[in-house]
Amino acid sequence: MIRLFILLQALALSSSELSKNKVDQTPTALIKHPGETVLLSCNHSNPSFDMIQWYKQSAEGQDLVLLAFVRFSYRDVEDQFEDLYNVSGTGGSQSSLHILKLNGSEERAVYFCAASDAQRCRNPQP
Ligand SMILES: *[C@@H]1O[C@H](CO)[C@@H](O)[C@H](O)[C@H]1NC(C)=O
Ligand SMILES: *[C@@H]1O[C@H](CO)[C@@H](O)[C@H](O)[C@H]1NC(C)=O
Ligand SMILES: *[C@@H]1O[C@H](CO)[C@@H](O)[C@H](O)[C@H]1NC(C)=O
Repeated sequence: MIRLFILLQALALSSSELSKNKVDQTPTALIKHPGETVLLSCNHSNPSFDMIQWYKQSAEGQDLVLLAFVRFSYRDVEDQFEDLYNVSGTGGSQSSLHILKLNGSEERAVYFCAASDAQRCRNPQP
């Protein structure tokens, strides 16, 4: 059986005050079997942030691909990923990315959550 290794990293998009912009993401790494579901969670404590975005990087050096985001209480999964991911939470504090169905090596990736204030962040990748 294939094992999937998912690495997680959290980042704060605004680099100016990194120490204040603490972002936590759990779990940090996990191995799953195809067909299983995964729930990744991310929270932050910056009161001026109201958006959390979820990205996936399939291989080192590749671009981050936006999967989903929550802005205030508005939730959105990118169209092409609607069957694979779901998102919950609110941008102001906490969000979870739900991988609905692990599917072969497709989902082997580094997942990033990014917290930011929505004003600074134009709607990424239409
Ligand atoms: C995220 O939530 C956990 C559990 O409630 C808490 O221990 C942690 O301090 C929180 N992190 C931030 C950045 O708010
Ligand atoms: C996605 O998450 C939302 C919010 O938790 C929930 O209402 C909805 O039923 C979920 N959709 C799927 C397909 O899991
Ligand atoms: C895995 O996901 C891709 C899309 O990302 C889809 O084309 C493919 O059919 C899926 N495979 C299985 C076995 O579900």
